[in-house]
Amino acid sequence: MVELSKGSQRIYGEAAFEVLAKAQELERQGKSILHFEIGEPDMETPEHIAQAGCQAIQKKKTHYVPSVGLLELRKAVQDEVENTRGYRPDLEQIIITPGLKPGIFFSMLAIVNPGDEVIYQDPGYPTYGSVTSFLGAKPVLVPLKEDNEFRMNPDDIKEKLSKKTKLIIVNSPQNPTGSVMTKSELDDLAELAEDHDVFVVSDEIYSKMTYETKHYSPTTRDQAKQRTVLLDGFSKYYAMTGWRLGFMVVPPLMAQRLQDFLVSAVSCTAAFTQWAGVEALTGDQRFIDAMMKRFKEKRDRIVKGLNSIPSLSCLSPKGAFYAFPNITKTGMTSQECADHLLYNAGVAVLTGTAFGPYR
Ligand SMILES: Cc1ncc(COP(=O)(O)O)c(C=O)c1O
Repeated sequence: MVELSKGSQRIYGEAAFEVLAKAQELERQGKSILHFEIGEPDMETPEHIAQAGCQAIQKKKTHYVPSVGLLELRKAVQDEVENTRGYRPDLEQIIITPGLKPGIFFSMLAIVNPGDEVIYQDPGYPTYGSVTSFLGAKPVLVPLKEDNEFRMNPDDIKEKLSKKTKLIIVNSPQNPTGSVMTKSELDDLAELAEDHDVFVVSDEIYSKMTYETKHYSPTTRDQAKQRTVLLDGFSKYYAMTGWRLGFMVVPPLMAQRLQDFLVSAVSCTAAFTQWAGVEALTGDQRFIDAMMKRFKEKRDRIVKGLNSIPSLSCLSPKGAFYAFPNITKTGMTSQECADHLLYNAGVAVLTGTAFGPYR
């Protein structure tokens, strides 16, 4: 009998897309559903960026381009990293990807061997666990504690480091808790990685989405020259989830390997999408402030509303656009609570356990 590969049997999907399918089925049956499950802005791509993409198509920018990305976009990313992280990566370190997600996949492919240990946040973005499992590596989870405002504590990371640790994945601002780690926590993390000679992949997809605090990149310490990999992208703060555009800043050691992965997997990122990306980075940035003002109002409203329900409590997230309420006092499991909300109240949410086992 034919059998699929062992790795393919270990990879898994994302609850967000499963809940979306369930919610859409209810909508087909005529029910009205409020959607809180899929992580994307409820705004359209700014007009000037969309126009740049359309014009690129009209100008026949519809052919293959270099697998690492258009030089114009890589140069714009070089300026962007200098302005936002305070160091200027070399062009050879910058790689354009179709969304941030392939950056997670390809950097992990380049770093992790079967049997290695990979440290990441729990709860955390499910892709890290799925790829760790696919690669035959061991997930080592660092619990995010509510009394530390869901920030990953460097002392907890230290406890989890072993001779087998190969990689620490960090995501700040974080999905799903909205926590934002401090500069000192992230510097400590980078120092630990240095002392233990492990890689760090920093998923900074919400880098421009903070409230009352600032984002800091743990890649600042080695300027992504030795062991840290910076991943960021256009999906969230330019409202471009469907365009599929992200970038990586990688140590020179990894650059050629990543180029080969890209050639083998996707050839290149769509040319017209990249031209839209050039406009996003170099054009008018006021959209982001307007979007964040709106998200802040929504955050305040939802956190206040959740805290007004006696059996719930919710910290005010410092970044991204998620709320992560504590439901312990309801006496329900996470799944019971999510099902109750979907089927009885028409509200689609994700369970905390969709992001990891810690509770
Ligand atoms: C932490 C995190 N990383 C990566 C992604 C995926 O980004 P992209 O759509 O650019 O691949 C998401 C999307 O929800 C996310 O929350």
